[in-house]
Amino acid sequence: DLGRYLVTGGAGYVGSHIVLALRDRGDEVVVLDDLSKGHAAAVPEGVRLVAGRCEDRRALAEAFGSGRFDAVLHFAALSLVGDSMRDPLRYMSENLATLSAVAQAAVQHDCLRLVMSSTAALFGFPERIPIDEDQRLGPVSPYGESKLMCERALEWAEKIHGLRFASLRYFNAAGADPEGRAGEDHDPETHLVPLAIDAALGLRPPLMVFGTDYPTPDGTGVRDYVHVTDLADAHLRVLPLLETRSVRYNLGNGTGYSVREVIDTVARVSGRAVPHALGPRREGDPAVLVASSARLRAETGWSPRFPKLEDIVRTAWDWRLAHPQGYAKDRKAA
Ligand code: UFG
Repeated sequence: DLGRYLVTGGAGYVGSHIVLALRDRGDEVVVLDDLSKGHAAAVPEGVRLVAGRCEDRRALAEAFGSGRFDAVLHFAALSLVGDSMRDPLRYMSENLATLSAVAQAAVQHDCLRLVMSSTAALFGFPERIPIDEDQRLGPVSPYGESKLMCERALEWAEKIHGLRFASLRYFNAAGADPEGRAGEDHDPETHLVPLAIDAALGLRPPLMVFGTDYPTPDGTGVRDYVHVTDLADAHLRVLPLLETRSVRYNLGNGTGYSVREVIDTVARVSGRAVPHALGPRREGDPAVLVASSARLRAETGWSPRFPKLEDIVRTAWDWRLAHPQGYAKDRKAA
């Protein structure tokens, strides 16, 4: 029983891995992406790319005009906490406008299923670790707040239009397609794993460790790194649930690794030193963010194939070695 899906932001890091997962099981996929952060070269052959913004009525009409979708998977969003602290109103308005425009078009085209990428940032400075779905929502950044507004908007769309949604609150997405078909290519890059890899390769300056005085075993920040292919698998598993209800899940491995442990793992996997310097904390960074995905596991049977940090780092390393300029070179060749 094959499906037909619209993936907004499908040329971006997480979105492109979901596109691969859908294609691998034979589903038909249309990508809507304005390529402001995504890469045309990340969209596999056989997948139609509508290059345009989610708020652009013509682009939406073109995407939805191609035939009925079983669900929309919405990844197009601004996603940097630090950026959002400098430009709060842009984050709030853009992320809500984008989600609203896509959800509205979905309702108009009788597609009442939507999966949205949400974030651990909903929980701000969490009360307990691991973080389950019952914890108090209290974002401490405009980015987190914007995703909370998006969830609320979907709750109203459910009440009024019958739109069923899944909100997946990712912890730290990392790694790359194990077959090497996609990887992480941000500009600017702000995420720890690719920055540590590039430092090892000498492609970027030494990594700055943000804070060594956290109340953690080695003093550096602890995060729950989850393989992007496992994230993708979770999306496929929540789709059938939408036939009966809306769901919200925290999505991580349930294990925390410190910045130092990530650096050590990159050094081990690459066989190179990771040049780094110790610096002050980055504003707004909680000491520890680790998910409880017990609910997701129990209700969907999800279980990560790549729970080990070493495997996450290795796939990211392999992709970077094969694509030292990211997608740029591929794009020129295309
Ligand atoms: N870090 C460094 N140096 C760097 C970059 C990061 O030490 O140059 C540290 C951070 O302080 C943190 C860890 O590495 O302890 C991970 O940082 P990332 O920037 O890779 O990821 P974040 O945890 O800050 O952010 C991620 C997602 C957000 C999401 C957030 C939830 O990128 O979208 O988790 O809080 F909102």
